[in-house]
Amino acid sequence: MNKKLLSVLLILVMTTVLFVGCSKEDTPKNNTDGKTNGTTNDKADDKLPILGAGIYSSSDNFNSYIGKAIVNASKGVFETNIEDGQNDQGTQNNQTDTMLAKGAKAIALSVVDTTAAPVLVQKAIDAGNIPVIFFNKEIMDQELLASYDKVYQVTSTGGDYGASIQGQMIIDYWNANPEVDKNGDGKLQLIVLMGDPGHTAAQPRAQYVKTTIEEAGIEIDLLEEDTGMWDTAKAKDKMDAWVSKYGDSIEFIVAANDAMALGALQSIEAAGFNNEGKESDMYIPIIGIDALPEVLDRIESGEMMGSVLQDARTQGEVIVKMADNLVNDRDPLEGIDFELEPGAKAIRVPYQPITIDNLDVAKETYAE
Ligand code: GAL
Ligand code: CA
Repeated sequence: MNKKLLSVLLILVMTTVLFVGCSKEDTPKNNTDGKTNGTTNDKADDKLPILGAGIYSSSDNFNSYIGKAIVNASKGVFETNIEDGQNDQGTQNNQTDTMLAKGAKAIALSVVDTTAAPVLVQKAIDAGNIPVIFFNKEIMDQELLASYDKVYQVTSTGGDYGASIQGQMIIDYWNANPEVDKNGDGKLQLIVLMGDPGHTAAQPRAQYVKTTIEEAGIEIDLLEEDTGMWDTAKAKDKMDAWVSKYGDSIEFIVAANDAMALGALQSIEAAGFNNEGKESDMYIPIIGIDALPEVLDRIESGEMMGSVLQDARTQGEVIVKMADNLVNDRDPLEGIDFELEPGAKAIRVPYQPITIDNLDVAKETYAE
């Protein structure tokens, strides 16, 4: 009996020591948080308010990085963990109910289905005018945004969603590397892997990359254009069929995100392309969007030509800062270096071109 009591006590003491040890170790990190400090440290010892946060799917690489960025930026500001909506709106609705029931002071979500935004906003209003920050998936319903003073969104540049930069990178590459025109017909034999067609960025990304190229006077011979649903495995399947159909007559592969660029790369490498980077006997340049950590060494090795950085870290920092401002009844933009696009009530974090020449920019973005 006594022995039991002793071991229970011992465990208790050890857990406390461990716990205190951990939080002490975490403290210095809070001070290096960059843009999100300020109110951060004075609250460190209090119980932090809850930020109810969720991404639409943890199998989406880029969204998982924004989730991490939110967690990092929340240190010392909010208690949070990232719910996985599992690409199911019902699941995400339930998770939102739970966050609010637990007393979340703000919620931040990339929605599964953008048409569910009104329902989510209503939940937050009903829970006591809780601020809502949507991110990643753009909410186009401006009436909804205008109807509630505590709803905002944080995304990347809208309109072309980074695809004009992607197009310009292809133009520069074409001009610097005449051998891209393998058959010498003056046209670019192109493959385009689109995002999920239900997604606001899917159509514009496919469109703007092509119009940017064409407006520079380069004619496109579009071999194939189809969706890979933002997904590596699905993109690989599509590419498998195309590479066996067109082989070395493919001159460029454009993927609307890096997850699909990686799928395309797997496919063409299995068919004998790109294994030796740019020096390969058979080579097809591939470009993506997001500049995820997992593509950076592929760019370094020349297996991929480049990507367009979508700055997950800054988005995470802005989301947390804005939530903190709204929770504390401050101007939502206080301490934020970006402007608000009025109708969309959106903060737009700019995209940046990434090639082998500036990989550091992307590496820095994902450094923790
Ligand atoms: C895009 C991103 C894609 C995917 C998509 C999901 O902005 O480039 O990789 O994450 O959002 O909403
Ligand atoms: Ca050609």
